[in-house]
Amino acid sequence: MPTKVVIGAQWGDEGKAKIIDILSEKADVVVRCQGGNNAGHTVAVNNEVYKFQLIPSGILYPGKTCLVGNGVVIDPEGILGEIDGLVAKGIDVSTLKISSRAHLVMPYHKALDKAKEALKAKDGKDIGTTMKGIGPCYMDKAERSGIRVCDLYHEEVFAEKVRENVKIKNAMLKFVYDQDVQFDAEEIIATYKGYAERLKSHVIDTTVEIYESIKEGKEVLFEGAQGTLLDLDLGTYPYVTSSHPITGGACIGAGIGPTMIDECIGVMKGYITRVGKGPFPTELFDATGDRIREEGHEFGTVTGRPRRCGWFDAVIGEFAVRTSGLTQIALNKIDVLKDLEKVKICVGYEFNGEIIKHFPASLEDLEKCTPVYEEMDGWGEISHIRTYEELPQTVKNYIARIEELVGCKITMVGVGPNREQNIVIEK
Ligand code: GDP
Ligand code: IMO
Ligand code: MG
Repeated sequence: MPTKVVIGAQWGDEGKAKIIDILSEKADVVVRCQGGNNAGHTVAVNNEVYKFQLIPSGILYPGKTCLVGNGVVIDPEGILGEIDGLVAKGIDVSTLKISSRAHLVMPYHKALDKAKEALKAKDGKDIGTTMKGIGPCYMDKAERSGIRVCDLYHEEVFAEKVRENVKIKNAMLKFVYDQDVQFDAEEIIATYKGYAERLKSHVIDTTVEIYESIKEGKEVLFEGAQGTLLDLDLGTYPYVTSSHPITGGACIGAGIGPTMIDECIGVMKGYITRVGKGPFPTELFDATGDRIREEGHEFGTVTGRPRRCGWFDAVIGEFAVRTSGLTQIALNKIDVLKDLEKVKICVGYEFNGEIIKHFPASLEDLEKCTPVYEEMDGWGEISHIRTYEELPQTVKNYIARIEELVGCKITMVGVGPNREQNIVIEK
């Protein structure tokens, strides 16, 4: 049975969780590989809306193994809150396992995230992070001073690491960021001891579980968080997150080799959104942008911030296909574009008098890019449609043009937030 990696092909919030939920029906194992509770993944089933941040979106199907991989940064308070919320709704979480190698988000990471953003905001240079401590936690990982889940179960080692970190972080908060907040290492040690006890039955070596599942022929789904243009290496740096949302990130974040992946599915919206700061060539500042925001309920799942909205950008689409080796695309939220006389697709950028087709590296160059648009006829209400054949010809044309421009087939089309509002295109 195949393994499938599902990633965001734009700036996040493409509807990855909806696709994961749909694919989970036939899967045995669902794995989160990177990011943390900066992610906000929404699944709508039977008039109930579930929002996941760290727990894989496959948990709603009983009996599926749900894994939080080594590449994820785990806020224990956050994941325990999610577990409690699901248990209160009668959902079984005994199949949830978290990696002993994953790094822990600590209280000082969140304080540093806030302090740094506040300082940078004075010059208008803040990134617009989710303030969940994600950047500082990955910084500690790269700097080799991070604390991992396995450390929770070696009390002395854990205490020592917390004490060492608190000393440095308190100094940074006070002397670099001019903050009053200071942390008490002993208090953190005691609090995390409680978390350790509650999480103990969930902690395993997820790399072994994944490898054995694949060897046994089970279907394993890898659930990406964030999106391609938020990738630390390939995104609109520095307006990115601190992990690797592209398919390659799944290999590292789950501890598997690239030969173990069969399908790479990129999730796109029929338009584009972005939360937080940073460049966005096709952003709309007019009534159409407002209309897409309202119709698509484009407000952040984690922070509630209004999402910036713009036309579909095929330059970004091609970039995602190329950098993730996509084999399929799920195109969501086509229903949101209803009742527009014309819809636009960005087919290239005009840059220094030339048309370019590849997404530039430099933000300064990107600022000089003007989108080149192609206009297509719009469509009406489609949220009730369940087969490709029934879709209006204008939607079929839109799908075909996107496939042609980005160089990858579209195999699923979203016409609404619910599980059943997904059209599978057999090709
Ligand atoms: P994720 O982070 O990629 O999982 O996406 P989010 O959950 O943050 O945001 C996607 C939003 O769009 C959620 O509210 C979904 O319920 C909703 N959604 C997903 N697919 C569709 C679709 O095809 N049409 C509509 N109208 N909404 C959708
Ligand atoms: P899902 O998985 C959209 C954005 C933040 C900010 C930047 C850095 O729901 O698609 P961070 O807190 O990660 O340091 O913030 O990344 N961001 C997301 N935007 N969807 C997400 O996740 C995001 N996770 C982070 O808004 O611009
Ligand atoms: Mg989201």
